[in-house]
Amino acid sequence: MLGVSGGIAAYKAVEICRRLVDAGAWVSPVMTNAATRFVGQTTLSALASEPVRRSLWDEPEPIPHTRLGQGADLVIVAPATARVIGAYAAGISSDLLTATLLATRAPVLLCPAMHTEMWEHPAVRENVATLRRRGVHVVEPAAGRLAGGDLGTGRLADPADIVAAAAGILGLERRPGRPPGSGSGLAGVAGLAGLAGVVAVVTAGGTREPLDPVRYIGNRSSGKQGYAVAAELARRGASVQLISTVSRPAPPGVAVTAVETAAQMGVAVREAAGSAQVVVMAAAVADFRPKAVAPEKIKKQDGPPEVVLEPTPDILAGLGRARRPGQVIVGFAAETVAPSAAAPLGRTLRDYARAKLDSKGADLIVANDVAAPGVGFAHDTNAVLIVGRGGFEADIALTNKDVVAAAVVDAIAALINRPTPVNRPTQEEQEQS
Ligand code: C5P
Repeated sequence: MLGVSGGIAAYKAVEICRRLVDAGAWVSPVMTNAATRFVGQTTLSALASEPVRRSLWDEPEPIPHTRLGQGADLVIVAPATARVIGAYAAGISSDLLTATLLATRAPVLLCPAMHTEMWEHPAVRENVATLRRRGVHVVEPAAGRLAGGDLGTGRLADPADIVAAAAGILGLERRPGRPPGSGSGLAGVAGLAGLAGVVAVVTAGGTREPLDPVRYIGNRSSGKQGYAVAAELARRGASVQLISTVSRPAPPGVAVTAVETAAQMGVAVREAAGSAQVVVMAAAVADFRPKAVAPEKIKKQDGPPEVVLEPTPDILAGLGRARRPGQVIVGFAAETVAPSAAAPLGRTLRDYARAKLDSKGADLIVANDVAAPGVGFAHDTNAVLIVGRGGFEADIALTNKDVVAAAVVDAIAALINRPTPVNRPTQEEQEQS
């Protein structure tokens, strides 16, 4: 089902509809009254598999929302306005579209589009976070020119990306067109298993670099975010190996390999990455380690030792250099940019994240400001900026780490399911070759 609500981007729903039909989907369109002010009902009816429905009351069938909701394999709302997002989050069914959203058990893909001020309003941020927590998929709006000539985040995502995300959620590249309701119910399972067959490696926790047999240099990473990403990948059907320095219960279906040092993590990651399509380096890997490790405990009476450090090999950068076609490499960046005066030359989290995307040769960088309240190490909450190639950005406001994990996995799934390879070499790599 393709729901269209009333924003200027409604005209792009026509192309989304056409692409879905071309890909073999049976598209049942639903428009809100406001949507019909932006795009003609006749246009969408002509391109979809069925005529547009608009009303709870005037359709030939008596209860259209339950028939649509029960018959759908996937409900897409593009564009999704702040009103529709708010009504859906609050459970208010004031029209056919919102009633259908509440009447379906199919996966739902929301594609928000609105002005930047509206998109950044705390009410909208919280509604989107609530819906993500409930398992709703979101294709983030892009940055660019908005209605009225303003520039900012809020543009509807590219129709090709929306259709690729839809295919990813269904775990399908292509399926034959058929009327809704004729499915076996397997589509619901496919919806949860959008990454079925994908092999993923995730790292979690902070490494410990020994000084002697009892002491080490470590960091405050709890591993919670890495475990949440591993759990989310497994929930969507990926086969996941988690390489971890921390002792936490393994998420269902996830195989855990315990390591301690950056060197051990490097060996385990390189071995596992050979057959993996997705590698997520969520671990806080030490950048430096003691050059010499004392074979016995350093005695207090011998006085404080002078510790000489050496750099550790950069696992992520190595993966970026050795990446196979189609492999998706994700890095994390824990930065401290708050207060802004602390950032050298006023650099922002976005600057750090974009620089790391290139220096590591990664496809996505998940950056957070660990100095901000409630963010990063040891907290159950996080706020991240996910950046990718081609200007991709998703700004996830403070929420729990499971919701952040869902956003990270949405971005990974979009790359895996994209029709054309996007993880092309970085400029730096091109220059090197
Ligand atoms: O360079 P920086 O440590 O800030 O980069 C962080 C990212 O790089 C994380 O994804 C981390 O897992 C990875 N990393 C790595 N090997 C290192 C240091 C960091 O893979 N030696």
